[in-house]
Amino acid sequence: MVSAIERLFFIVALCSLLFSKINTSQEVLLVDKIRVAVFASGSGTNLQAIIDADIQTIQIVLVFTNNPVAYAIERAKNHNIPVEVLDHKNYQTREEYEERIIEVLDPYKPDLIALAGFMRILSPVLVRAYKDKIINIHPALLPSFPGINSAKQALEYGVKYTGVTVHFVDEGVDTGPIILQSVVPIEDGDTEDTLLHKIHEVEHRIYPKAIELVSSGEIEVIGRRVLNKS
Ligand code: GRF
Repeated sequence: MVSAIERLFFIVALCSLLFSKINTSQEVLLVDKIRVAVFASGSGTNLQAIIDADIQTIQIVLVFTNNPVAYAIERAKNHNIPVEVLDHKNYQTREEYEERIIEVLDPYKPDLIALAGFMRILSPVLVRAYKDKIINIHPALLPSFPGINSAKQALEYGVKYTGVTVHFVDEGVDTGPIILQSVVPIEDGDTEDTLLHKIHEVEHRIYPKAIELVSSGEIEVIGRRVLNKS
């Protein structure tokens, strides 16, 4: 026969075990969220896609922009995400500007910077300060058509397929290790506008996926290759 005291002891032990599990899983959730700063200069449709994807492994701690009238600012405000605006025109050099960016970022303690239409080439100052912690989305299949106007470049070259690349940022322009790519076919009737539209749709699908991959810790960079750890 189990006495009343033994039964009570059993219930108390069970409750404390359950409580410690819930508590532990909450702590894990809080501790494990990767703090992401999204950098955008324009309309911010990629920022919106990242927000809407509601990625469980990340917290968007900041939207940073160099453009005081970027629509990305409104998008961030609509979701109560802090915004920092630092107009590059107020700085003499790229380096000086980025030193200031680093100071502005500091209190937000980002683990990852996601460039989402940030229309500034980064200098080694920022790239080194956040080494291997900056990713970018590019509207072409790198290494083809780096830099600006990639859809136009692809059309003019006459390729039949272009696409989207998410990559780590190194000290070159669009040269870092590739995380994800997706293909966009080019059809005879395509103009720069129709092609850009198709590219954007793909971007909005793959950027959240890439951010999830990076923040999950499931990938590693070996040389130029980004590989699954498992
Ligand atoms: C995207 O096409 C992205 O690939 C490029 O800049 C564009 C930004 O668009 N780097 P949006 O501001 O996210 O709408």
